[in-house]
Amino acid sequence: MKLEKSEILKALETITVAGEGKNMVESGAVKNVITFGDEVIVDLVLGTPALHIKKRAEVDVLKAIHEHVYEKAKVKVNIKIEAPAAQPQKNEIKGKPIPGITNIIAVASGKGGVGKSTVTSNLAVTLAKMGFNVGLLDADIYGPSAPIMFDVERERPLSVKVGNQSKMKPIENYGVKILSIGFFTQPNQAVVWRGPMAAKALNQMIFDAAWGELDFLLLDLPPGTGDIHLSIMQSLPITGAVVVSTPQNVALADARKGVAMFQQDSINVPVLGIIENMAYFTPEELPNNKYYIFGKEGAKYLAEDLEVPFLGEIPLVQSIREAGDVGRPAALQTATPIEKAFEEITKSVVQEVVNRNENLPPTEAIKITTMAGCSAVKK
Ligand SMILES: Nc1ncnc2c1ncn2[C@@H]1O[C@H](COP(=O)(O)OP(=O)(O)OP(=O)(O)O)[C@@H](O)[C@H]1O
Ligand SMILES: [Mg+2]
Repeated sequence: MKLEKSEILKALETITVAGEGKNMVESGAVKNVITFGDEVIVDLVLGTPALHIKKRAEVDVLKAIHEHVYEKAKVKVNIKIEAPAAQPQKNEIKGKPIPGITNIIAVASGKGGVGKSTVTSNLAVTLAKMGFNVGLLDADIYGPSAPIMFDVERERPLSVKVGNQSKMKPIENYGVKILSIGFFTQPNQAVVWRGPMAAKALNQMIFDAAWGELDFLLLDLPPGTGDIHLSIMQSLPITGAVVVSTPQNVALADARKGVAMFQQDSINVPVLGIIENMAYFTPEELPNNKYYIFGKEGAKYLAEDLEVPFLGEIPLVQSIREAGDVGRPAALQTATPIEKAFEEITKSVVQEVVNRNENLPPTEAIKITTMAGCSAVKK
């Protein structure tokens, strides 16, 4: 008995694929058919590893060949599992560009409490001092801190008409437009969010808010690398990410995970660099003494190791903490070493945004021109 490949294929065409309205051959599941005398080898590719689907496909193939071709055919079915269809394109993943917002910078850390919100608020006021239009979206659904750090805790965003739509008007202080999940929750209320829900709330604060024209929208992310981060990253056209770490090993390990999160294929957000916070302690009465209490230059070495830019270091000083607590970011205090440190870092961030936009394919949300004084990012 010699079986013909064409007969086998005809038999396989009688098998319908559930939910596709196509037969097994049309659907592309049959990759190869080989016949030797009364033996047949059928190679199938399926999009799901579910055991019952595999079993079902195998039984269907056996039955079809036995019924339609030769009842004693020796049939072997090889099944390979492959992810269905191609991955969505980057732009599809990233969601729609946001009219008026030129660059979105996510500030993340991996480990909690390393100073993301402190760094974000100081970056924001420094950018504003440099003449940029800046927004800050406090995306920390676990512990929003922007309302405290900008002394706007009691404010509630008003609704304004933009065209014929009602939009949320961000609260403004120190030249920074701010929205925070903290404006919509009670201070003592524990909010339990799931990734998609949080992403939806954040999406509303981005798309349904009257941000106006912004050169930068800074996103202060919650700590960690969980599903909330994935939802946010996937639904927003993020220009780049800044990762904050202290020099100690536990923080560095988490920062490494943070960088990996942004770089993974399905997210693919360029990492603008790493900032080392609490790099050393300097007591006010001994301004020239540096104590490396969390270790020395750990974040700098991590940046080298991961081949991402090192954006600079910020010392651990009491006035930074105090300034955060009273709601007036430390970098607002002029002619201080802290103002200078944040200026240096902010310039590095801006420079990296410029580099990123020059070297990587632009997404819809990114536009670059040069601003007098520094090669910068401005509409
Ligand atoms: N360089 C610094 N010098 C002194 N205190 C600092 C410094 N950076 C941050 N802090 C203080 O450390 C605490 C934690 O900082 P912050 O809230 O910015 O961290 P975070 O990473 O945003 O935390 P979370 O993960 O909870 O969001 C705050 O009290 C802040 O004032
Ligand atoms: Mg925070």
